[in-house]
Amino acid sequence: MTCIFGNELFFTSYFAVKKMTDCQGDGEGTMSPMELFEKLNAQGEKVRSLKSAKAEKAEIDAAVQLLLKLKVDYKQMTGQDYKAGCPPSENLIVSNNGPAADDCDGEDLVDPWNVSASSTKGVDYDKLIVRFGSSKIDKELLERIEKVSGQRAHHFLRRGIFFSHRDMHQILDAYEKHKSFYLYTGRGPSSEAMHVGHLIPFIFTKWLQDVFDIPLVIQMTDDEKYLWKDLTLEECHRFTVENAKDIIACGFDVNKTFIFSDLDYMGASPQFYRNVVKVQKHVTFNQVKGIFGFTDSDCIGKISFPAIQAAPSFSSSFPQIFGGKKDVPCLIPCAIDQDPYFRMTRDVAPRIGLLKPALLHSTFFPALQGAQTKMSASDPNSSIFLTDTPKQIKNKVNKHAFSGGKDTVEEHRKYGGNTEVDVSFLYLTFFLEDDEKLEKIKEDYTSGALLTGELKKILIETLQPMIAQHQERRKQVTDEMVQQFMTPRPLNFKF
Ligand code: TRP
Repeated sequence: MTCIFGNELFFTSYFAVKKMTDCQGDGEGTMSPMELFEKLNAQGEKVRSLKSAKAEKAEIDAAVQLLLKLKVDYKQMTGQDYKAGCPPSENLIVSNNGPAADDCDGEDLVDPWNVSASSTKGVDYDKLIVRFGSSKIDKELLERIEKVSGQRAHHFLRRGIFFSHRDMHQILDAYEKHKSFYLYTGRGPSSEAMHVGHLIPFIFTKWLQDVFDIPLVIQMTDDEKYLWKDLTLEECHRFTVENAKDIIACGFDVNKTFIFSDLDYMGASPQFYRNVVKVQKHVTFNQVKGIFGFTDSDCIGKISFPAIQAAPSFSSSFPQIFGGKKDVPCLIPCAIDQDPYFRMTRDVAPRIGLLKPALLHSTFFPALQGAQTKMSASDPNSSIFLTDTPKQIKNKVNKHAFSGGKDTVEEHRKYGGNTEVDVSFLYLTFFLEDDEKLEKIKEDYTSGALLTGELKKILIETLQPMIAQHQERRKQVTDEMVQQFMTPRPLNFKF
């Protein structure tokens, strides 16, 4: 699938709005690079819309002059040329010009609502790191995580499933000095049905909670799903409770975990709402348009929602847990499509006197049909659901899992299969923990010794018990337990 957007920030110019708010303004000098970038986006649009509306020449000239002036300011501030669709990378004043500007023409679309890649191998994650301005989880960071935690790195880390980060070194520096941190992750409860891909961040977060022994907050954005989907508030809240059961079934420690519904907690926690309002005051409509692609006809609930996803990044949003402390660092494990929310959060944080959250980003869990897109709960054939029976798992894998094998057995034996695009193999990288076994499968499939049907069988036999065990654990999660996890209360941990 070819995709027209190279970057989530490109939405600004793609969904060009006819009438822009006035962006002539003062004091670029006090702006952050991101703000200046958004301002440039808006000014570019303004010039375009004046031209297409055949406005007075003088008016167009004035707008162009301002655009040029802003470009000069931008270059001075960042050392980079402004390029629409290429946001400034963080810390760019100290960074070199790098390949950032050149790499924005990729065809992968990645934002909180869409993921599609131009290649069958899936999204080019190295390019995404450059485009988003995050950092690669390299060998050095892996070794540090192992050293500080005293544990072998989780296979999601070893295999590059969590591949990118922001400020993870700072989290480890602090932890080494006995300064604790907390974890924040979330889930948009859009239906009762969760699929195996949804578990990835939770499985990993549980590991982090265990090895670092730290508190965790899980935001259920039922408000977000109400705003974005054709669902009632009651349905969204019910999905929160149902999804919370699947999350709890991952094994979180109730003494260290707080799960909350936005619909409940926003109204119940004055401190949380205060942080939401602070963020709202410091982000303009132009900025969220630039970051999320909102248009003038999006409802105002969507436009202000990013502040609600930002708020849990600040420890002061949870006085019952942190006793009003503002400076407990936050680490957010999430899929990389959520990064736009946290780029915004990190941009705002210093301006409201709060700490920037650190992040660990994962790749997407591919759809059965191939790595070009992620699993989607709305297409039953693209996903393995947590409620699937062993038979359904078998049928789905056999019928729908995209194969990197050859068309005939003879050809396959001769040329071998391609593990880079083979969905069954990709799923095994997520769920088969044994490195040696996985390596052997890779060798055998590549050489042609292992056939597609045999590979699928290995996957089926890995998924069936895993999902059956999940279902067993979920059955044990009672409404009272959900209630317990969702009650605001102190958590058990040492600072
Ligand atoms: N917006 C996310 C979703 O739709 C839910 C979410 C809220 C989240 N806060 C988060 C995900 C923090 C990861 C980290 O699924």
